[in-house]
Amino acid sequence: MSDQTRRILVTSALPYANGPIHIGHLVEYIQTDIWVRFQKLRGHECYYLCADDAHGTPIMLRAEQDGVTPERLIERIWREHRADFADFLIEFDNYYSTHSPECRQYAELIYRRLNEAGHISRRVITQAFDPEKQMFLPDRFIKGECPRCGTPDQYGDSCENCGATYSPTDLKNPRSVLSGATPIAKESLHFFFKLADFEAMLKDWIASGPIQPQMINKLNEWFTAGLQEWDISRDAPYWGFEIPDAPGKYFYVWLDAPIGYMASFQNFCDRAGLNFDEFWGPDSTAEVYHFIGKDIAYFHILFWPAELTGAGFRKPTAVHCHGFLTVDGQKMSKSRGTFIKARTYLNHLRPEYLRYYFATKLSDGLDDLDLNFEDFLHRVNSDLVGKLVNIASRSAGFITRRFEGRLADRLAEPELYAEFIAAGESIAQAYEGREFGRAMREIMALADRANQYIDEKKPWTLAKQPGAEADVQVVCGMGLNLFRVLALYLKPVLPGLTAQVERFLQIAPLRWSDVGHPLLGHAIAEFKPLMQRVDMAQIVAIIEESREGAPSGEETPAPSGPLIDDPIAPAIGIEEFAKVDLRVARIVKADVVAGADKLLRLELDLGGEIRQVFAGIKSAYPPADLQGRLTVLVANLAPRKMRFGVSEGMVLAAGGGGGIYLLGPDSGAEPGMRVK
Ligand code: MSP
Ligand code: ZN
Repeated sequence: MSDQTRRILVTSALPYANGPIHIGHLVEYIQTDIWVRFQKLRGHECYYLCADDAHGTPIMLRAEQDGVTPERLIERIWREHRADFADFLIEFDNYYSTHSPECRQYAELIYRRLNEAGHISRRVITQAFDPEKQMFLPDRFIKGECPRCGTPDQYGDSCENCGATYSPTDLKNPRSVLSGATPIAKESLHFFFKLADFEAMLKDWIASGPIQPQMINKLNEWFTAGLQEWDISRDAPYWGFEIPDAPGKYFYVWLDAPIGYMASFQNFCDRAGLNFDEFWGPDSTAEVYHFIGKDIAYFHILFWPAELTGAGFRKPTAVHCHGFLTVDGQKMSKSRGTFIKARTYLNHLRPEYLRYYFATKLSDGLDDLDLNFEDFLHRVNSDLVGKLVNIASRSAGFITRRFEGRLADRLAEPELYAEFIAAGESIAQAYEGREFGRAMREIMALADRANQYIDEKKPWTLAKQPGAEADVQVVCGMGLNLFRVLALYLKPVLPGLTAQVERFLQIAPLRWSDVGHPLLGHAIAEFKPLMQRVDMAQIVAIIEESREGAPSGEETPAPSGPLIDDPIAPAIGIEEFAKVDLRVARIVKADVVAGADKLLRLELDLGGEIRQVFAGIKSAYPPADLQGRLTVLVANLAPRKMRFGVSEGMVLAAGGGGGIYLLGPDSGAEPGMRVK
């Protein structure tokens, strides 16, 4: 190891304890886990801490809705989160909860110290209050008409239609989401953290480089807008910690949330025999990193370092922000089936496919990253199965069958092996700098190089040449040694696959420093397939299972009522409409579907390409009448798996109370023509 052992504490943001982990969250936990595993692989002392964020109004209300105590709810969610993370091979040193004695202790301590140092102010404010529910209402719990454009049913902070932002008192006809009652204005004493006391400190700290350059503009905006006092108290009923000496007042969830990082670490220290102050004390020489999404930067870059400083703790070494996940270029959506829970993914696919895919897309920047399923399938199949695993499967058989599993005593091409070692430094730098996409590209370039080596040496030809026996062993041994280096470099991303490789090669868990010692004269186990290809049907199944209210089998487009009952949908731009690829199609075959009341199976000719579509038009058309007819197909609708098979598009029909009318072009149109 070139650099000396570092002591590193790493956190990911604490997920809220009122819902499941989804693939958007996973961007962050996978990113952090890769970075932590890399540090450990390099031999550093590194700890990865996390916890559930278990307080706040939404959790209180959710528990009420479920008819359980908040304690019961957060206990259950904690178990689910832990299982989801474990199954995604995200390995925390401790996964704790903000609803813990340690968190209460540090929240009280930090508050007391801030208060004693004069950083807490108190004043009475007026807020919306639900007279029925007898509680103050957060902005999100008030709805009404937008004061600007009049759109009904808008939240208390902003309008989804015109984008206006306002305060809940501006809403027309406001009502409480909880009871439907009209909120009243009510006064109450609140506690505030005086963030502005720390302005100079924060500016110095930020200038010392703990923040990504892309974040600096945002920060300057915040400084220009002025650092406001932060309201850290909430009135009962509230689910959280009561503020010391202030009965009926509770810490706002965001006050104790980052303190959960400390609580999780303290809880870990007590078990592992570590000294908390060596990491969090003012004289700590350890490194502390927070990985977060860009949506919660304000809390981590301004409030948190200020609180820490005011309470006599150290500040983080750096705060690493990442962008947001989109799916096929859009926000995750329940109706499109792209709001995918970690568990739903795991029901169909191996976690390492997603770990690898995210790794190829991650950088140290704030850009959003897109999960595109075609691209996902292609990347994983071509890189991991086609390139990586292929190296081993091409070399291993000969070693097992002809040499009793023994690798050669020497490397066929020490220079090539040296190239693989040399590439390690740049790959390590990429990991260290969170340039995982670059690391993956460099590793895959080496995989290409290894395959090229085997292509050139052709062990399968050598094996047939009399007298070339020893060459086969050296060539395949070389291939497997290159493969071993690649498995090592990929270990932070693919820990499960690397564990399989370690068993196959019969070696101890790989460490980064092992790269300099090739396996010579060593016996390996029989090769077993390491990884399957991803199949589009598995992806379709994930999307189907994720679609809100997804019926498991037959599904027909709900017959939309006549216009009067069915208002025209909100306007979309021409660009959005242009995304829909409508084509003229000829129905070449129409069949009834056994077991389906409403569906017909159509075979459509798109001018060369044949598509299968299930359409809910059986009540209106005997199949024979459809044969040969032209219709209009939504050609780029994502395929959907149904009980009877995959439906590859949708035909257009008018529907209403009075029947179903298949649309078709005037005669003369040709299959495949674009409909605009
Ligand atoms: N509880 C707070 C964090 C407190 S940290 C002291 C919270 N929880 S969260 O569950 O909403 O989000 C947890 C993390 O996941 C955040 O860093 C958030 O940015 C990240 N992500 C949530 N959805 C995401 C995407 N769609 N894409 C990428 N990251 C996402 O915020
Ligand atoms: Zn509006």
